Amino acid sequence: MQSVESFYDQLSSRYTDLISRCVPRYNEMFYNIFHYIPDDLQPRNILDLGCGTGNLTEAALQHFPDAQIHALDLSADILNECRLRFKDHDNISYHQQDFNDLDFPAQSFDLVISSIAIHHIADSQKADLYKKIFRMLKPGGVFVFADQTRGITEEIYEKHISRWKNEALKLGSTEADWEMWMEHQDAHDYHTPVICHLKELETAGFDAVDVIWKNIMWAILWAQKTTD
Ligand SMILES: C[S@@+](CC[C@H](N)C(=O)[O-])C[C@H]1O[C@@H](n2cnc3c(N)ncnc32)[C@H](O)[C@@H]1O
Repeated sequence: MQSVESFYDQLSSRYTDLISRCVPRYNEMFYNIFHYIPDDLQPRNILDLGCGTGNLTEAALQHFPDAQIHALDLSADILNECRLRFKDHDNISYHQQDFNDLDFPAQSFDLVISSIAIHHIADSQKADLYKKIFRMLKPGGVFVFADQTRGITEEIYEKHISRWKNEALKLGSTEADWEMWMEHQDAHDYHTPVICHLKELETAGFDAVDVIWKNIMWAILWAQKTTD
């Protein structure tokens, strides 16, 4: 079976086009990620987990042009697309790393962001990742991410998938594109119900957690580290 890394390696040059024809309300999702960052949080160090070709990284750059942004991804080829995209910016650094191997020092970041990437790791790994993110954030720091989630029942989940397909076709995905995403999803994706994300974030130490936006199966989860 093809690994997640090689899937995104071979998709890298086509990724930005394919994803914009696949995810409904993609730009609205990004808008909401940044809208709910507290006004008094002026992040100097931002980590983008699973940056891909840099779609969320670009939004971070627009909102916080003076911040140091760390763009992290497993796939060398997609990270290279990201590097080329921001070749004129010297405040972005690139890290080819697996979420499971994160090793930044404690309190490295004011803000950790991610978009449609964390569902690539299993639930037990998500729990570990949230603990690491809590440790890597400064007090007052925020972790906000958008991702595909699972319905709390199989019926809700199946209805989500069916609505998603309708929306993706309306956005210009072809049946072949859809099949390609579904094959990848069946092999590699671990969609988690929103309630389980919230519980794991609390268990990791975050004492303010919320769902700030949701459309079909895409949700934005928000968590703040108010204490050390
Ligand atoms: C669907 S793309 C999202 C890219 C970008 N954030 C966006 O919104 O367009 C998922 C990204 O997560 C990366 N990824 C998947 N599993 C990963 C892991 N275990 N560690 C680091 N990155 C991973 C993939 O290589 C891919 O670039």
